[in-house]
Parts: sequence; structure tokens; C-alpha cells
Amino acid sequence: MTNLNTTQLIDEKRIAARVKELGRELSLLCKDGEWTAVSVLKGSFMFFADLIRAIDADVKTEFLGVSSYGNATQSTGEVKLTLDLTSAVEGKNVLLVEDIVDSGLTMDYLAKTLRARSPKSIKTCALLFKPGALKVDVKPDYVGFEIGNEFVVGYGLDYQGYYRNLPYIAQVNNIN
Ligand code: IMP
Repeated sequence: MTNLNTTQLIDEKRIAARVKELGRELSLLCKDGEWTAVSVLKGSFMFFADLIRAIDADVKTEFLGVSSYGNATQSTGEVKLTLDLTSAVEGKNVLLVEDIVDSGLTMDYLAKTLRARSPKSIKTCALLFKPGALKVDVKPDYVGFEIGNEFVVGYGLDYQGYYRNLPYIAQVNNIN
């Protein structure tokens, strides 16, 4: 078991309020045309479940799996698709939902991969955004919270597979 020293960064109430706001904005986006919301696994599963319930429009849901950092906390720059969509997105509008944009390499890779499948449009939404850690130019279209370069866990985000079940987001003090 891991032995992390954590401090709560964003509590459940703030998360819920922000997810509702994002849901309202995305309801406006998704009310026109055919939209597919894509959850990037594993980290976005909890955010995605709350977010799509806050969207008042018809949306399909799909899931994409990508390899994570493994046991490290630094991006390797290598992104591997571990689970693919089950339906074609050609000519469809895609809303890509990520847990966090850190280096931006994952979102950049996924946006390029999906663009190659000729969707009508792609919008991106991330619960968390670390602008100070970006290595590629990919600002998400919708952001829950901007944070510093600290490593965070909870509400779907993990450290070595643990802490995803925390209902709040915590910053880790004893790893870098
Ligand atoms: P990227 O560096 O933007 O490509 O981030 C890739 C993935 O790394 C994210 O989708 C997360 O799953 C994971 N990740 C990045 N930063 C953190 C963090 O602070 N805590 C937990 N996972 C993270």
C-alpha cells in the first residue's frame, strides 16, 4: 500500500458546483447536432459520470483507454491506446473528456488520432489543467479547475492505482 502525505485541494462541494456549471455550458454546445462524449479511461470515469448527468441534451457515450504513467509521476511522452471506440465518429461531433491535462501529450495524441477519423468537430474538456506543465500547445476548450504543478489524486485520479475512490481532490506532498 502507498503511504502518501496528502492535503485536500478541492472539496466535494466545489467539484459538484463546477461540474454543474460545466454541464450547463456543455448543454448549450450539445443541443445542436449529434454529439458523442468520450471518456478517457481510467482517470476520467468519475468526472465523466457526473458530467454527462449534468448535460441536458442528447449525447452518446463512448470510452477510450490510454496507457498511464505506470508507477511514475512524470510523463514519458509515450501514449498507447489500450481501448478503442466501438462506433465510428466520422461526420460526428466529439466531446473528449479527460481527467487532467498535464504535459498535454495525451490530449494532443488523442485529438490527432480522432481527427484522422474525420469527425465533424472535436471539443475537449478536462477536469483539471496544469498550464505550467504543458509541453505541447493544447489548451482544453472547457476546464474545471486550473491548478499548479503539484501531483494530485482522488475523484478518479490515481497514484499507483490507488486513491481513485477519494471523493475529493488532494495534493500529494511527499512525491514529486
Ligand atoms: P499528460 O501529461 O497531459 O499527457 O497526462 C497524462 C495522464 O497522466 C493524465 O490523463 C492522468 O491520467 C495522468 N496524470 C497527469 N498528472 C497527474 C496528476 O497530477 N495526478 C494523477 N494523474 C496524473
